[in-house]
Formats: sequence, C-alpha cells, structure tokens
Amino acid sequence: MNIPSWPQADEREAELFRMVLESPQWGGFHPFVAEFEQSFAAYQHTVHGISACNGTVTLELALTVLGIGSGDEVIVPAISFISTATAISRVGAIPVFIDIEAESFNIDPQRVRKALSPKTKAIMAVHFGGAMCRVDHLDQVCREYNLFLVEDAAHAAGAEWSGKRAGGFGIAGSFSFQNGKVLTSGEGGMLVTSDNDFAERARSIANCGRSPGSDFYHHVRLGTNFRLTAFQAAVLLAQFERLPEQIARRTANAQLLKRLLSDVEEIRWQEQPREVSQNPQYLLIGRIAANSVQRDEFCDRLTAASVPCTPFYPHTMYQNPLYRDAACRILPCPIAEARIRNSFWLPHRVLLAQEDTIYQVAEAIRVAVSSGRRGSVSADAALIPR
Ligand SMILES: Cc1ncc(COP(=O)(O)O)c(C=O)c1O
Repeated sequence: MNIPSWPQADEREAELFRMVLESPQWGGFHPFVAEFEQSFAAYQHTVHGISACNGTVTLELALTVLGIGSGDEVIVPAISFISTATAISRVGAIPVFIDIEAESFNIDPQRVRKALSPKTKAIMAVHFGGAMCRVDHLDQVCREYNLFLVEDAAHAAGAEWSGKRAGGFGIAGSFSFQNGKVLTSGEGGMLVTSDNDFAERARSIANCGRSPGSDFYHHVRLGTNFRLTAFQAAVLLAQFERLPEQIARRTANAQLLKRLLSDVEEIRWQEQPREVSQNPQYLLIGRIAANSVQRDEFCDRLTAASVPCTPFYPHTMYQNPLYRDAACRILPCPIAEARIRNSFWLPHRVLLAQEDTIYQVAEAIRVAVSSGRRGSVSADAALIPR
C-alpha cells in the first residue's frame, strides 16, 4: 500500500539548511529563527512567537512565566502525552486530572468546574489529535474564576475554532515540532501569545535571562537556554510552506475515508464541535464501539495490512507509574479509562496518501473489523454515566 513516509523533505529543506551551514551563525540568533517565529505566530493569529528546543519545555516555560509553582493546581485532561502533566509537576505545581468528553476525546468544561479549588491557577487544555477543545466554555470558566488558560497545542498547528487559530485563546499556546508532528524539525517547540508582557518574559527566560537589546553578558532574571537552532528553523521554514496544502489534503482524505466507512457501525470517529473550522488532522482517532471487535487485534490486522495503527496510549496520564508518587489530584475518569481500552489512531501520513490508496485503507479497515466480529455488546456498556 502506498502510504507516504514521514517526515518528508525535498530540495527546499536542503537549500535553506545549506544557507545556515554556509553562514557564521548556526545557533538561535540566525535570522531564520526570528523569521520562523514571526511567520508561525502570525499563521496562528497571534502576535509573538518564542521558539524553543521542544514542546515539553515550552509548557514548563509558560507555567514559569505565569508564576505557577509550589502548591498551585492546574487542571488537565486525563488523556494526553505525559508532558502536559509533567510540565506542571516540574514547576512544583499539582496536576488535577479530569475526564474527557465521550466523543471529542477533549477536556470536558463541565468537569473543569467540579475540579476547581482555592488552589486552582490554570487550565492546561489540549487540542487532542488536532481537533480543538471547547475553548469558548473554558475561556468563560477562566474569566469567572480568574484562571489562566494555557493551550497545549502540540497537535494543533493550523487548528481553528470559528476561524481563529489555536494558541490565540489562552494567555499562550504551546506547539511541538517533534518528529511525528505535522510541522517538524525532528525536535522543536514554540510558544505563541498576543500578550506583550508574557512574550517579553518568556523570551528572556528562554534566552538566559537577557532582555531585548541588552548586552550579551547582561542577565536580568533567572533564565535558561531553550533556544531553537538555525538548522531547525531552516527545516521548519521549508516544512511550513507545505502545511496549508497538506492540511487540505488530509482534511479531504479524512472526509473520504469516513464516508467510505459510514456503514461500519463498530467504529466511531472522533467528533468535533461545529465551531471547529479547521483540523490539521495530526491523528485520525477512532474507537471500537462494540465488544464484537477486539481493539488490539483490529490494530494488529491493520498494521499487518500496511496501514499504521496505534492502539492509543496504554494509560491515562495519571496511571503512569510516576503519578503513584508525584503529587496530583485525580477525579473520576471513566471515559478516559474506557478510551485507553477501546480507541486507536492512524498517523497523519496515512491521510497524505493519494485517493486510490484511501480506498485501499478503507477496505483494510473494513476487513480488520469484519474478521474480528463476534457478539455485539457495546464496549461502552461499563461506562458510569455522569
Ligand atoms: C499533547 C502533547 N504535548 C506536549 C508534547 C511534547 O512535545 P515535545 O515532544 O516536542 O517535547 C507532545 C509531544 O508529542 C504532545 O503530544
């Protein structure tokens, strides 16, 4: 099956990369870094971009800038990559894990309200797989209770809510350019914000505590070095030129695939609120909605048919061994615990395939479902209603 590989590069990456190689500045002070920061921040409809070496430290940086630390609580969805929670723990604060919505896989704003305490300082919202979470409701809660909204937009380059892009709803949005992401330099990250003061402090901390225009050896606050290299910026600038076309292709292919499989009742695809006006389709997320099909066998069959398929995260974040010891608060998360058992995702490169391959992918999914059919009890039957 002709599924494209990822990451992808052509002569454009090589050309920009060579320009860096032939310049006297390979580090974060090369003009490519500032150019990419400005272009990406503008693309996300924000004013400032502060790049960094990955999308884990950008989360830590955002919390540090906000002064969140010892004893403070930050509310997070139970389902995400572990960095969403560890960033909170690493600044000394306490992640409060709450359940996700059943169909969107995203943080449930109703449950946020139930998780609030006098120690709550922020909500760390994830746009899981590239589908934006309910930023309007979260924004409302933040205004009511004077909390910060930080968007973990690692999956969400190009994601939109009513025409406005991810990263512009909270005080800051954090992006990852790790190897598998839709925009990648192998490693890399960026905070975007439209708050001038936040931007100045974030840039300073990420750059050894320097202040704009100050002497190289003059440090005004406790900082560190999170800088992106010029080589990463060169690759990102080239990748960025292809992003809009790739989002369009993935969107069209995701729609086609779902249409081809609309009669397969055993699979339910991630749903998104109607306000989502663009989804970059970092992941095509689905769940097995009947006990008749074993999720792991389904994924194995698909992978054997050359369609890459991941059987979701093996744990909710709080089920990782680290949170047996690390301070945290866990609210009941029956939906998240069901999703780690019954859900799966296809990586975005599947959706970059040509249309004829999408027909083959649909057929492989159909076969993987039908060869596993047994009974027909709902896999969600054990879910505790809210
Ligand atoms: C939701 C989420 N947040 C944060 C990160 C961390 O990004 P990075 O791998 O660039 O450190 C990831 C990485 O995959 C992620 O998926």
